[in-house]
Amino acid sequence: MMPVLLSFPDDRLLAAAVADRIGARVGRLEWRHFPDGESLVAVDEGIAGADVVLFASLNDPDRKALPLRFAARTTRELGARRVGLVAPYLAYMRQDTRFHAGEAISANAFAQFLDESVDWLVTVDPHLHRIAALDKVFRIPATAVAAAPQLAGWIRREVARPILIGPDSESAQWVADVAREAHIPYEVLHKTRRSDREVVVSLPDIARLRGYTPVLVDDIVSSGHTLVAALEHLDRLRLPPAACVVIHPIFAGDAWECLQRAGAGRIVSTDSISHPSNAISLAEPIAAAVAVHLAECRSEVQP
Ligand code: R5P
Repeated sequence: MMPVLLSFPDDRLLAAAVADRIGARVGRLEWRHFPDGESLVAVDEGIAGADVVLFASLNDPDRKALPLRFAARTTRELGARRVGLVAPYLAYMRQDTRFHAGEAISANAFAQFLDESVDWLVTVDPHLHRIAALDKVFRIPATAVAAAPQLAGWIRREVARPILIGPDSESAQWVADVAREAHIPYEVLHKTRRSDREVVVSLPDIARLRGYTPVLVDDIVSSGHTLVAALEHLDRLRLPPAACVVIHPIFAGDAWECLQRAGAGRIVSTDSISHPSNAISLAEPIAAAVAVHLAECRSEVQP
């Protein structure tokens, strides 16, 4: 039986491209709000016996988590065989420790919530920092797709003489992978975050940057302040305007305008979260990862 893919409203474009590649039928998932703010979720009725793939990027997670749980539970009630989740952006992974007394370790709690909701998970470059791998927090099979080959391809095609700059030590993992894929040099800065919106980054090595186009690479742009701090250094160096290449374009509040004011050149992102900056498609690697999980589901039930 054909797998059925049910997408949350914001993710329909990428979900359709993935469905196409894995030979899934795109089913109905509706989500509306009652006047009091409660959600009503309705899913395709023709899913009995099918492997279902829910597709929901988990930016804005407090709004989406409960409807996701409702959708997953309903697909099971309607007879789905296995229910997987593609969440190209996986929220809460940055809160992976108690930074201050009494704080929730949201990464663990959110992982448990998803564990209890679905049978398997595919996500893209989750913010793994103090958590070494997804299987340290998830009990369900979980795959982290790497966007590095897609980022490297875009940079090679679009930027003349690029040098990559990671704005903080956490970004080193992504920047090093992209640099290796694209065969280009890179440098990683050091960041001190004083508050949600106050960030200081170290000065880049000016001598290394001469003759290159700087390309800032980060996994997430949220408030934008990390990239703004790096752009402010670069702006003073009389280099070509720095391109910003981002995996997960959250762009909270006025982040987009802040980056432009700070002198960014092109600002591009993957389509892990639907946003006007999307220029790098993840359909191919996500589809490949989903296909592996679907094959495992099929082999579980076949003798
Ligand atoms: C944190 O280490 C991440 O890699 C990003 O650098 C961070 O989440 C960006 O946040 P913001 O845009 O709010 O500075």
